[in-house]
Amino acid sequence: MCGIVGAFRRTGDVLPTLLDGLKVLEYRGYDSVGVGLVQGPGLTIRRRAGRIDELASRVLAEQAQGGLNGSVAGIGHSRWATHGPPTDENAHPHMDAGGRIALIHNGIIENYAELREELIGAGVEFHSETDTEVLAHLIGRELAAGGRLADAVRRALPRVRGYYAIAALAHEDGEVQLVCAREGPPLCVAVDEDGAWLASDVLAILPHTREVIFLEDGDVAELEPGKVRVTDGKGVEVDRPARTIEWEMEASDKGSFPHYMLKEIHEQPDVVSRTLYERLDLDAGDVRLDGDFWSDESLGNVRRVQVLACGTAFHAGLVARYLIEGLAGVPVDVDYASEFRYRSPILAPGTLALGVSQSGETADTLAALRLAGKLGCARASICNAIGSTMVRESDATLLIHAGPEIGVASTKAFVAMLVAAYLMAVRLGRAHGRISQEEGRELLAGLRQIRPHLEHMLTREAQDHIRDIARRHSSVKGFLFLGRGINYPIALEGALKLKEISYVHAEGYPAGEMKHGPIALIEPGMTTLVIASQDSVADKVRANIEQVRARGGQVIAVGADPGSLELAEDKIEVPEVGPWLSPLLNVVPLQLFSYFVALEKGCDIDKPRNLAKSVTVE
Ligand code: G6P
Repeated sequence: MCGIVGAFRRTGDVLPTLLDGLKVLEYRGYDSVGVGLVQGPGLTIRRRAGRIDELASRVLAEQAQGGLNGSVAGIGHSRWATHGPPTDENAHPHMDAGGRIALIHNGIIENYAELREELIGAGVEFHSETDTEVLAHLIGRELAAGGRLADAVRRALPRVRGYYAIAALAHEDGEVQLVCAREGPPLCVAVDEDGAWLASDVLAILPHTREVIFLEDGDVAELEPGKVRVTDGKGVEVDRPARTIEWEMEASDKGSFPHYMLKEIHEQPDVVSRTLYERLDLDAGDVRLDGDFWSDESLGNVRRVQVLACGTAFHAGLVARYLIEGLAGVPVDVDYASEFRYRSPILAPGTLALGVSQSGETADTLAALRLAGKLGCARASICNAIGSTMVRESDATLLIHAGPEIGVASTKAFVAMLVAAYLMAVRLGRAHGRISQEEGRELLAGLRQIRPHLEHMLTREAQDHIRDIARRHSSVKGFLFLGRGINYPIALEGALKLKEISYVHAEGYPAGEMKHGPIALIEPGMTTLVIASQDSVADKVRANIEQVRARGGQVIAVGADPGSLELAEDKIEVPEVGPWLSPLLNVVPLQLFSYFVALEKGCDIDKPRNLAKSVTVE
């Protein structure tokens, strides 16, 4: 969703800092962008529809001509539109009627229509269609009534129903006040001797300091150089200790790759090593996970697992089901978090709720996990973002250590989630006595082979082969992705990747279901991509390929089953690693395939239309 940054320094000019921060957070929303700066006796705003680069070149040109210089404090916003189309007027920051404050917001104000009406009735003139402007007026009016900006924020927010991370900037009588608050979407703050920063994501803070404070729901923070004061909604100071973030900044750089997505696909061998790091106890045939939660005694009480996730993470959750049921013998349900939270789920005693999320901030996943918690479940998570809301609210987390993922289409986080699910399945299996020491050793030894296989699959030659196939299929009218068993979720993920970044219609289906509908779509000009592993259902997958070909459809086979590869017009061979690990390798050609189709079509691969990386609203 939207990206928020703010900075307040003792001396110097914060504009370049804000622009750099916005660039880093652009993945959160990129339909419009704006900055609000302390200038002269008041505040100045520059905002427009379009990408950050366009705004940056304009404001920097203005600076070169002597304008917009020397702002010691400012806020910046990259927008993913919810209320009102991406126009200049709807871009943030928004100001209150008195011009006292500038405000940026990520989230949704659910009762904005009634508040807007009330404010219009009181004579307030609106200049945008956003829900955010309501907040600007409410806070501005409270500030006019007296007190400090933080008091005004605390008085205004109880009137609001919805989800928000906001930052407000005021500059009156020579005093600068920078305040932020959170209820739902993420927000972190940091200070050092010279300055103070706020952002939706630690990535925008890391260039300044690694010591970051993650705000919690209901927090209001006042920032000034060298100092941050966090209070609850009543103004009572709360203790929010800083955490040290280990991520390397270079990890969020594109390096020599043309797109983040391609870079992140190529990082996968390293990511697998990082997810496994110090977790394999090969002698014991077991997985080492820190904390009592993962002990035999505690996991022995887990009778069922309820996975909750969205998007690509949901597909990882589906693979987790096959792994946990198959290896540990523990039954698993997997739900879209957005569905789970609005039905009346019945969770048997001993159910462990497992949230799977790259960001740890997806609103639906958080709400579903909270609901499961209320219904009495212990909560665990598989997550990438240290310090995220999901990690903080879980009883235990298996961090995937994928590093910052910037490409909107998730790749390396997915592979790392699969590795984490595998580790969890083995640990559960050992705790339940379902996996012997010897079997544990074999399973873990297999996992150690993944890295070299991935490296082999990412050579120039392997990539060129997939690029050639993608080029030849890039103008077909639609794609069917078929997979069976543990590779059925990989078919779903392959289709999702293609839809997300190349805007081609693609459907993922369990191969056995093809005859119940999708087979009607098969004709020349329709490509079917079949995941063909060497497993117990390999002969059935071969039959599916025959059925598609008999109807004039083109087939691309991806996998390790020679029989299937033989039958297809196009083949992408994948090393044989056995059924449990096959999804980890099979997904990689599908990521590359969608990347190259999108490239061929000239799509904006890292910033696909209408999407956002971190969906912090419903
Ligand atoms: C968005 C992203 C997807 C992601 C999903 C869940 O839709 O575009 O790539 O899979 O959110 O995100 P999470 O951070 O919870 O894994």
